[in-house]
Order: sequence, then structure tokens, then C-alpha cells
Amino acid sequence: MDIADFIVEGAARRVISPLEGEMAAQRPEGVGPTGLGLLRQMEIGASRAATPSVAFGDISPSRGEIARAYVILAEGVGDVEAREALLDRAMGPKRRKKSSEKLRRGRRPSEGLAFVARDPSGAVVGTVRLWDVTLGENGPAALLLGPLAVEPSLKSGGIGSALMHHAVAEAARLGHGAILLVGDAPYYGRFGFSARRTGTLAMPGPYERHRLLALELKDGALDGAKGTIKAAGRKVKALDFV
Ligand SMILES: CC(C)(COP(=O)(O)OP(=O)(O)OC[C@H]1O[C@@H](n2cnc3c(N)ncnc32)[C@H](O)[C@@H]1OP(=O)(O)O)[C@@H](O)C(=O)NCCC(=O)NCCS
Repeated sequence: MDIADFIVEGAARRVISPLEGEMAAQRPEGVGPTGLGLLRQMEIGASRAATPSVAFGDISPSRGEIARAYVILAEGVGDVEAREALLDRAMGPKRRKKSSEKLRRGRRPSEGLAFVARDPSGAVVGTVRLWDVTLGENGPAALLLGPLAVEPSLKSGGIGSALMHHAVAEAARLGHGAILLVGDAPYYGRFGFSARRTGTLAMPGPYERHRLLALELKDGALDGAKGTIKAAGRKVKALDFV
């Protein structure tokens, strides 16, 4: 894959500039360097065809055309089936046995922190969600990130990084103090995650200690945190689609 503009939806819809060097000049008002600087850039693929998505319409009004783009948006209720199918393709059926799943099952993602990436046709090609947890008995609140997955045929195109940067930026914007996840440090290290602050914490089930990673969004958010991580998210109600 070599075509991807990312448009992300947060407090306001944001267009991500293709060139880091042009970022300062093109930065929309209210969008700090985090949102722009972190999203990986690829070539603009311009299409003259109109699309039904309002997000696409934001990208190049000055050119008088609609740009073809990959976009990151809040997950909608209509995305659940496509997201689950994508997770099965990307991670296989064993994904449901992970310890992280214990912290997600029966809960809704943290408010405003479930995202999908869509391809230019609107198909879901990436997913990431964050979940409310507490760190130990009566410990501080934090988020658990995952699962993160990208359509296998589109791997290494920057979609995973774009989802991660957007998720982290939105979690910070919403005032959260820290994000934890279980994953590969060689991948998540590029977003600032490490096992440095997680030695006193534990997952509620089997996991590899060196894969329990954390990122502080606020200095000191993990100070003194210890014990087993517990689910703290809003419970799923009978009619919720999650
Ligand atoms: C992990 C995943 C989300 C990354 O998405 P992506 O869109 O391919 O990622 P990006 O394009 O942003 O980054 C790709 C880079 O990350 C590297 N990378 C991917 N997975 C990695 C891992 N587990 N460990 C180390 N590096 C990894 C790639 O080699 C590539 O390196 P390069 O930039 O030097 O070429 C995707 O590969 C995926 O869905 N994997 C299956 C599900 C999964 O394992 N999810 C994570 C659970 S912990």
C-alpha cells in the first residue's frame, strides 16, 4: 500500500498533512504537533469521484476535488461485525483467550476511545480501542489499549501507527493519565511504551511480564501503582452492540 492520507476525527475533524516538513505551515488551528507529527505520512491519492463520507470531503477543498484517503474515525455501531471479522483475520481465534480479554469482556470501551481506519471504499481496515481499568485494588485509573489490528494485506502501510498515534493523542486530550497494553516492545516502543513502570503490576491471567507495557500521559500517573489490573469500564447492557 502506498496511498494513504489519514483524516482523523477527534474534537474536530483533522486533515493530516502529507509532509512533516510542511506541518507547521499547514497545521489547523487547535491541532498541536502531537496530532500531526505523529501520524505517518504517505502520498496523497486524489480521486475526482465524490464519496458519501463527509470526512473525505474535508481534505482538499482548495483543489476543488475530493481526495481519496484512508481515514480514522470513531467506531460506529455498524462497524462491529466488520471489526470482529478483521480481528479474526488479523489475530486468529485464540485472540479471545488473552488475559486482556478478561478486562474487556462485558465492558464497553472507554468513552470516545474506539476507532476504526477505513479505506477509500469505506471498508474497515484497522481497529483500536481503549478500556477503563484500575491499577490494583483501589488504585489509580488508567486505560488498557487493544486489540490493535490492521487488515493483513495492508500491513506496514502506516495504518497501525496512525491508529496508535491517534488513540494516544485522544486519550491525552480526554485527560487520561496512562495507557497500558500487552504487546511487543519493539513495535510499541516507537509510541513511547515500555515495561519500565509495569514491574509492580500484573494482568489477571497468564501473560509475559516483559510484554506488559505502559505509557504515562501525565507525569507520575503510574507512581506507586501496584497490584493486579482490574476492569473498570462501563458494563455492556443487553441492547448494546460492542
Ligand atoms: C501490529 C500491527 C497492528 C501493525 O500495523 P501496521 O499497519 O502493519 O503497522 P505500521 O505500518 O504502522 O508499522 C509497520 C512496522 O512495524 C513493524 N512491526 C509490526 N509488528 C511488529 C511487531 N510485533 N514487533 C516489531 N515490529 C513490528 C513492521 O515490521 C514495520 O516495520 P518498518 O516500519 O521498519 O517496516 C499489524 O501488523 C497487525 O494487525 N498485526 C496482527 C495483529 C497484532 O499482532 N496486533 C498487535 C497485538 S499486540
